[in-house]
Amino acid sequence: MASPPPLLTALLLLTAAISLISPSQSQSQSATCTSQSQTFTNNKRYAFCNGLPYLNSYLHWTFDPAQSSLSIAFIAPAPPEGWVSWAINPTSTGMVGSQALIAFKLGDRMTVKTYNVSSYNPLTESKVWFDVKESSAEFSNGAIRLFATVVLPEKGKTVVNQVWQVGASVTGGVPNKHEFQPANLNSKGSLDLLGGQSTASTGGNSRLKKRNIHGVLNVVSWGILFPTGIVLARYLRVFPSADPAWFYLHVSCQVSAYAIGVAGWGTGLKLGSESKAVTYSVHRNIGITLFAFATLQIFALLLRPKKDNKYRLYWNIYHHGVGYAILVLGILNVFKGFDILQPEPKWRRAYIVVISVLGGIALLLEAFTWIVVLKRKKSDKSTKPYDGYNNGRGRQEPLSP
Ligand SMILES: *[C@@H]1O[C@H](CO)[C@@H](O)[C@H](O)[C@H]1NC(C)=O
Repeated sequence: MASPPPLLTALLLLTAAISLISPSQSQSQSATCTSQSQTFTNNKRYAFCNGLPYLNSYLHWTFDPAQSSLSIAFIAPAPPEGWVSWAINPTSTGMVGSQALIAFKLGDRMTVKTYNVSSYNPLTESKVWFDVKESSAEFSNGAIRLFATVVLPEKGKTVVNQVWQVGASVTGGVPNKHEFQPANLNSKGSLDLLGGQSTASTGGNSRLKKRNIHGVLNVVSWGILFPTGIVLARYLRVFPSADPAWFYLHVSCQVSAYAIGVAGWGTGLKLGSESKAVTYSVHRNIGITLFAFATLQIFALLLRPKKDNKYRLYWNIYHHGVGYAILVLGILNVFKGFDILQPEPKWRRAYIVVISVLGGIALLLEAFTWIVVLKRKKSDKSTKPYDGYNNGRGRQEPLSP
C-alpha cells in the first residue's frame, strides 16, 4: 500500500505553520529599566532595577541584609487620581495575604499607606508585616512613584513574593478596586532581593529579542516537531512499505526537535537566571522535566533492545510512556510560555490552529489505521505482524505498537 497522502498534507501544513510563527514584532508587556532615569527627586539611587512583566511598572531597590532593610522605588503609570501598590506577601503568592504599600493622592498631596490585605473586601489601613521607616510618593509624567524604606521582620529572608497593582480611582481615602484584566491578575512573582539586574544593565530590546527567540525555538521543537514525530511513528508504521522509512523519519524528526529544543531550553535557563524580579516556577519546572525526558529518549534510542528481545516490550512501554508525557507537557508548556511572553494574540491562535490540525490528522489516521489493521487481520491471519513489535502479545492492535 502506498504512503497515505494525509500525512504529506500534514507535513506541508506544518511547514507553512512554522513559517507563520517565525519571529516578528511580537510585543512583550515587560518594562525595561534602561528607559528609567536612575536618580530620583529625593536623590536616591538604588542598587537594582527590574522592569516588571506586567502593568508597565518598575521596581528599583536596595537591600541591606544585615539590617533586613529594604528601600524601594515602585513606579507605575496611573492617572493622577488613581493609586499604585507594591506589596510583599509573606504567606502566599497572590493578593490575599499581601502586605501592601499603596500610594495615592489624599487631599492635595500624595500619601503612602499600609494595608494588610486579608480579603477582597474594601481596604482598611492597618499595620503590616514589615516596619515602615519612611515613605513618600509623587506623581509625575503620568506615573505614580512610591518610595519606601521598610525593615523585614525575618532576618535572612532574601527571596520574597511580590505583588504589584494599579487602580484608577480613590474614594474618600480608600483605593477602589483595580481592573481584572490579565495584567492585573498576573502582576505577582518572586523577588530575589540580592539579585536582579544591576541598574547599569543593558537593553530591554535585546531581552525581548531573547524572549522571542526562546519562544520560537521551543514552540517549533516541543510544540510542533516532537508531536509530529510521534504522529509519524505511530501511523506511518502501519504501512509495510513505509518500513523502515518511518523509523528514520521518526528518529530524524525527534533528533532535530531535540537539538532545537535544547537550544530553546538553554535560552530559557539564561532568561530565567536574568529574571530576578519574577520566577516562573511552573514553566521552569516543566521545562526542566521536558529536557530530562527528552534526553532519556535519546539514550533510549541507543539502548534499544532488538525487536525479538524479551525486554523489548518493557522498552516499548517506557519509550511510549515518556514520549506521550513529552507530548502533553510540551504543549502545556508552550501555552504557559504564551501566558508569560504575552505575544500578540495571533501567535497563540496560530499555534492553536497548528496543533489542532495535527490533532485532527492524528485522529483521522487513528481511524484509518484501525481499518487497515483489522482488514489485514481478517484477510491474512497467518501473516506475522509487519513490524514485529507485537511478537508474543497474542493480538495486534494499532494502539500498542
Ligand atoms: C493580617 O490579617 C490577617 C487576617 O485578619 C491576620 O491573621 C494577620 O495577623 C494580619 N497581619 C498583620 C501583620 O497584622
